[in-house]
Amino acid sequence: MKVWIDGKVVDGAQAHVPVTDHGFLYGDGVFEGIRVAGRGVYRMEDHLRRLETSARAIGMELPGGVDAIREILLETLRAYDRDDAYVRLIVSRGEGALGVDPTTCPRPRVVCIVDAIRIFPPEKLCDGIELITSSLRRPGFDVLDPGVKSMNYLNNALAKLEARRRGADEALMLNGEGRVAEASVANVFCAREGALATPPSSDGALGGLTRKGVLELAAELDIPAEERSLVRVDLLAADEVFLTGSGAGIVPVKSLDGESIGAGRPGPLTLRILEAFPAYVQRVATSF
Ligand SMILES: Cc1ncc(COP(=O)(O)O)c(C=O)c1O
Repeated sequence: MKVWIDGKVVDGAQAHVPVTDHGFLYGDGVFEGIRVAGRGVYRMEDHLRRLETSARAIGMELPGGVDAIREILLETLRAYDRDDAYVRLIVSRGEGALGVDPTTCPRPRVVCIVDAIRIFPPEKLCDGIELITSSLRRPGFDVLDPGVKSMNYLNNALAKLEARRRGADEALMLNGEGRVAEASVANVFCAREGALATPPSSDGALGGLTRKGVLELAAELDIPAEERSLVRVDLLAADEVFLTGSGAGIVPVKSLDGESIGAGRPGPLTLRILEAFPAYVQRVATSF
């Protein structure tokens, strides 16, 4: 693992954040998770823009702006020096007083972690994962805008914990109205009669960049795809369901709440997307 922190790149074991950082104390900050493949950064400018938007949404400036963050990302990747990686780019509120008041934090802290990541074991990616519907709902726009990629992931972590305790791999999260929002850290797609659908951001889905890629790729492959509100029953009635995320990639789902989805194994549309995705990633990646 390589980490950029306090102006230089160090090994993971040497990277420390002070306990008074409000990212640690309050989950106050924003982040990006970025896929790196074949020495290319997937949709780098989109990730930087999303980070900037998240920061603005919580009233924080990126130190040095997007250009400085881009340089930090590339410097850390060059130090890591591998073809494939996962990047965790964090901008926390920084060090401040023990109260929640962010105005006591004069300077945000940037941390860039580069390492390998494995969210699901390879056999799960082949056979499909088991999903449960979480009892926890995604916070609404009136609580915490689900489009802001903030460091507040307790809701997601607890949904994942619920899934693991119920013997499943991942949690499906509904919004306050009972519509499908997303999984704990991934977007959701379903396929029925040859067409794909994924919930819109207005239903609480993060504007995922893997999701964006899948929508683009579907258009290239002449697979009809749309953003549309979905409910749990739509997933049970689907021929195929898969999840998308920078860390996990494209993940087939074989069951929801113990009910088999389609044939209970990755279906033809999922397999077509999975097959075409690596070349697509290379096309839209920025090399370093
Ligand atoms: C809550 C949530 N939804 C969806 C995603 C997928 O987004 P992306 O494809 O940009 O990684 C993530 C990624 O970490 C996430 O945290």
